[in-house]
Amino acid sequence: MTNSQLIEEIKALKKEKNAIILAHCYQNAEIDEVADFVGDSLGLSKLASKTDADIIVFAGVYFMAETAKILSPNKKVLLPNLKSGCNMADMIDLRMVKEFKAKHPDIPLVCYVNSTAEVKAECDICCTSANAIEVVKSLGVNKVLFAPDCYLGSWVQYNLPDVEIISYPGYCPTHLRIAPDDIIKMKEKYKNSVALVHPECRKEVVKLADFTGSTTQIFDYIKKTDFETYIICTEKGVVDRLKRDYKTKNFVLVNDKVICHNMKQNTLHDILNSLKYENYEVNVEESVAKRALKSIDKMISIKGGKVSVN
Ligand code: 13P
Ligand code: SF4
Repeated sequence: MTNSQLIEEIKALKKEKNAIILAHCYQNAEIDEVADFVGDSLGLSKLASKTDADIIVFAGVYFMAETAKILSPNKKVLLPNLKSGCNMADMIDLRMVKEFKAKHPDIPLVCYVNSTAEVKAECDICCTSANAIEVVKSLGVNKVLFAPDCYLGSWVQYNLPDVEIISYPGYCPTHLRIAPDDIIKMKEKYKNSVALVHPECRKEVVKLADFTGSTTQIFDYIKKTDFETYIICTEKGVVDRLKRDYKTKNFVLVNDKVICHNMKQNTLHDILNSLKYENYEVNVEESVAKRALKSIDKMISIKGGKVSVN
């Protein structure tokens, strides 16, 4: 089957089953052809809570589909390919988060949405890379536990020097593949350029950034500025979309290793099968979902996060 045949079938099935497709911007770019919404974690979470579709197909990774299910317990949430996990989310489980809290009692825990529902259920409030600073600030305390990403924790610490951030030692292996030297070399090669960095990158990389932000914040920055070359220091899917959308600007991926293989598992073929056979359904145990929802709802009530609507 060709891509255009797959796209036609997917569109027809979406209509027939009153389904929507949410796609994260690290997905294979051809998925945008069938997606109703493309965006960052926060924007997509918000949308999942508002849609009146019967089925949500989440073209993203497992924790994103779980978040959608928590926000829409009466809808069927499908993940097209079960291999779409997140290495960072897998670095902390229920036992580990309980140990982390026990080691630092009476300090609120902020939990990056890149985590399992069980871990979200244990925290006081969730955050994404788009709103982590606002979320920590909103607590009005001088000490905060932060999990699982220690680099996003460092970014918050840098922005809020008056708050002590105690980070769990998790990280994203994809963003860790970016070294300071990669940026230095690219800046030498492209003279009128700026480096745009995701806060999951290590501190030494963030230090070299002209702008640091979530995927959507990076898209917004590009929209508002006019440099000759943008050095993109996050997953390749962002560069693929930028090259497609802006013909007069130059985009370079900081190195060719910044690919999240978990995100790339979902294909158009998987999405078609997902809609056809309604697999793979993602469910969250009710009591866990209830507690995780509280933490997500608290985050959603704070501003930030955007989506582009197809
Ligand atoms: P955003 O929060 O920028 O969408 O990023 C999600 C993610 O998985 C980054 O690695
Ligand atoms: Fe997880 Fe990193 Fe992939 Fe994002 S890029 S889904 S944090 S492994």
